[in-house]
Amino acid sequence: MKKTLALLLSVLMLVTLLAACGSNDTPPADTSGGDTQQTDDANTPEDTTGDTEEPEAPAAGGTIGVCIYQFTDAFMTTYRNALQEILEGKGYQVTTVDGANDQAKQNEQINNFITQGVDALIINPVMTSAADQIIATVQAAGIPTVLINREPTADQMAVYDKLVYVGCDARQSGTMQGELILDTPNKGDINGDGKISYIMVQGDPENVDAQYRTEFSVKALVDAGMEVEELNLTRGDWMRERGQEIVANDLAQFGEQIEVVFCNNDDMAIGALQSIVAANRKVNEDIYLVGVDALDAALNEVQAGNMTGTVLNDAVGQATAAVEQMELLLGGKTYAAGEQSVYVDYVKVTPDNVSDFMK
Ligand code: BGC
Repeated sequence: MKKTLALLLSVLMLVTLLAACGSNDTPPADTSGGDTQQTDDANTPEDTTGDTEEPEAPAAGGTIGVCIYQFTDAFMTTYRNALQEILEGKGYQVTTVDGANDQAKQNEQINNFITQGVDALIINPVMTSAADQIIATVQAAGIPTVLINREPTADQMAVYDKLVYVGCDARQSGTMQGELILDTPNKGDINGDGKISYIMVQGDPENVDAQYRTEFSVKALVDAGMEVEELNLTRGDWMRERGQEIVANDLAQFGEQIEVVFCNNDDMAIGALQSIVAANRKVNEDIYLVGVDALDAALNEVQAGNMTGTVLNDAVGQATAAVEQMELLLGGKTYAAGEQSVYVDYVKVTPDNVSDFMK
């Protein structure tokens, strides 16, 4: 009898011991969910950096914070939907927040995500000029971070090795816009006066995409030996209504002199088209119009002959690459200075291949 009791007791002790060991195996998930207050949460990132050198396994089902500069941006809407779908499809818990084009607001959102102890951040900065501050914040918290869409300089990124940028080389999109014009029967010189007279509708010039598209679209014309004349350049901040206003004003001021309308993105080009139609001008007959992004609305207009062309800014490709890089970071990858930009290619879209891009 005594023997059976003793045996029972030792089995019980063994079971208790085993259970205790088991609970020690899974602290990260338990801590973030179970442990109550911010103090504990705030310690989590430091603890993680403490035992750094050893790469951790990718956190399937981890929590991801996504910061978007502005939800009303048409292209970033496609992009953030793609991100959400890919991340959720892989079992991550995703929270996506709207910076409402306000850097102070976005800083707060980043800090909140850090306090909540997210496993990784994907950030589309409101202002490229805020990159230093954003990087310092995520670095202090030791959060693996993927920056998207608004590219900081290599030097700015070099300070933090758990940081990577995913985007496109905007020079390429500018060059392709110029090529779309060079591919027209009269190479953009509709009135045959020996020069291409254009207006430029620019995105937010704080963003390198706007700077490069503006520069390289015209450079492609000049490099091909064409003479160019800039009638006007106005910032439209990526927004459709601004595109419409700007082009309405320019058409009123310069009328038939305008042969080419360059828009740094499609949303502004769609706005531009409304004004072109209102002014009784006909795209591809007496004026050319090009954008960038390949938004669904723009693809329809290219197919209908109401836009000369656009350039695919591959939102799904970039979202896929951003998640890939995020998972590499979660797996312990670090980036060497000068190797922190990952680019996805742009693609020229014309009436000939537009159907390939339509769903
Ligand atoms: C896109 C624009 C978008 C901007 C936001 C650019 O790459 O072409 O449509 O408004 O990113 O930063």
